[in-house]
This record gives sequence, C-alpha cells and structure tokens, in this order.
Amino acid sequence: MPYETILTETRGQVGLVQLNRPKALNALSSLLMRELMEALESFDNDPGVGAMVISGNQRAFAAGADVKEMSGASAVEMLRRDIIATFDRIQRIKKPVIAAVSGFCLGGGCELAMSCDMIVASETARFGQPEINLGIIPGAGGTQRLTRAVGKALAMEIILNNRILSALDAERFGLVNRVVPVERFLGEALALASEVAARAPLAVRLAKEVINQAFETSLREGLADERRLFYLLFASQDQKEGMAAFNEKRPPTWKGE
Ligand code: CAA
Repeated sequence: MPYETILTETRGQVGLVQLNRPKALNALSSLLMRELMEALESFDNDPGVGAMVISGNQRAFAAGADVKEMSGASAVEMLRRDIIATFDRIQRIKKPVIAAVSGFCLGGGCELAMSCDMIVASETARFGQPEINLGIIPGAGGTQRLTRAVGKALAMEIILNNRILSALDAERFGLVNRVVPVERFLGEALALASEVAARAPLAVRLAKEVINQAFETSLREGLADERRLFYLLFASQDQKEGMAAFNEKRPPTWKGE
C-alpha cells in the first residue's frame, strides 16, 4: 500500500519503515503516526517478518510532534484528536522493533525511539525533550520512559533544562544499545534485527513481552509471569528442537510452533 509520509520495504526477515518527511525533519504529524502504526501492525501480522526497524534519515530521526499541526489547537481539540493514543499501539506490537537513530531525536521523536525495544544510534544522534521551550511538557511518555531509562536526576535536567544528550552520553546513561559511525547506523540496526528475526519466534515474543512487563509490575508478579512463560515454552516444538540440536551438536531449525 502506498504511504505519503513513510517508506516501507522488507529486507530478508526484517520489515523496515523509514520516516519520510525530510523537509520537516520527520515531524510526527497525525498522518505520519497513523501510517507508521499501520505499517508496523502489518509487519507484525506478516509471518515472513521476524523483527522491524524504524529509521529516519541522517539529519533527523524525528524532531518531535508536528508543532505546526498543533500550535493553534485548543485543549478540547487536542483531546478529541488524541494523536498520542497512536503511540499506545506500538506497545501492542509483538515482534521486536529497533530504532535506527541519526541526527535530531527530539520530543515525540525521542519518545518514539524509547517506545522501541532497542536503539542503535549514529555518532551524530542528539536526544532531547525540548517541549519546555514551547511552554508544554512531553506528552508521549517522555517523563516516564526517560526517567526509567536514565534516572531522575538526568531526566529532570533533560526535561526542565532542555539538556540535549550526545550519542555517547546516551550510551553512557543506558538510553541506547550502541553507537556507530553515521554511515553504519541503519546497517547495524538491520543486522541486529535480522539476528533476532532468525531466533526462535515464540521465545523472542515472550521474552520481549516479559521484559517490557518489568516496567509495569512488582518484582514478585514479574518473576511469577516469567516462570509461567518459561514453563509454557516447553509446550513448543521449538523447545524440543532447540534442546535436541544442542544435544546433537547441530544448528536448530526454528518453526515458530
Ligand atoms: N514540527 C513541525 N515542523 C518542524 C519541527 C516540528 N517538531 N521541527 C522542525 N520542523 C521544521 C521547521 O519548521 C522547518 O520547516 P520550514 O523550513 O518550513 O521553516 C524545517 O523543519 C527545518 O527546521 P529548522 O529550519 O528549524 O532546522 P534547524 O537545523 O535550524 O533546527 C531543530 C533544527 C533544532 C530540530 C529545530 O527545528 C527545532 O527546534 N525543532 C522543534 C523541536 C521541538 O520542539 N520538538 C518538540 C515538539 S513537541 C512534542 O514532541 C510533544 C510530545 O511530547 C508529543
């Protein structure tokens, strides 16, 4: 299906979505968010796809929600449009999603990257939540996900003082998985995605689910859920195959069953 604001393609078992509003630094308009979620959900339902990558271009992953679209809106209009609800849909994607970030990754762009399961950053990536300069606060998870990722002290500085994190700082504070030279950021994210896409699909899906649950629940409940899912995987063909392959000293062949 042709999209207006994104480009999509599959590379092997990886579904790639490129945000494509370069003149607006990939500002997240409501149309872009709708198209992005449609594309991710369609890859999620495609049995040939095992993982996804979201990227922008070298200059910008995304410079935030579309300020021009929302600057004249009233609170009631904002509530009615509720474009941030689209962000919730990313939580329901079952396969791993990796953000490939270069250049500006600000506001809603940073919140989008933090909604993904892993972040690969180019050396030129810049992370920030500059909403305070517009007289607002982050609205798509910035105060919550950033605080969980980097801790209260730094989150306060980023959100209240508009501190922008370099890629290396973002790596040092645990916001991103790895930093690579700019010409490699997309290739590295695709390689990470194809590596995970080649693994046992049910185990990958349940591992992602229960890791994300660690942010939602008590340790006791999280441990109990983890144990149940661990035992459940012994009902899968892939568990039999994985352990047989180990014993027979050969590579496993996963079926996702
Ligand atoms: N929304 C709409 N358009 C944007 C945009 C945004 N968030 N960010 C950049 N653009 C547009 C600019 O308006 C400009 O368009 P025109 O050429 O038509 O004027 C174009 O992209 C290029 O931007 P600049 O000329 O400003 O480029 P620069 O290199 O001088 O500056 C920048 C880059 C520092 C990222 C600057 O563009 C900027 O500060 N952008 C806004 C960042 C921001 O405030 N993000 C938070 C948005 S609110 C939010 O995200 C709420 C939420 O939590 C959901």
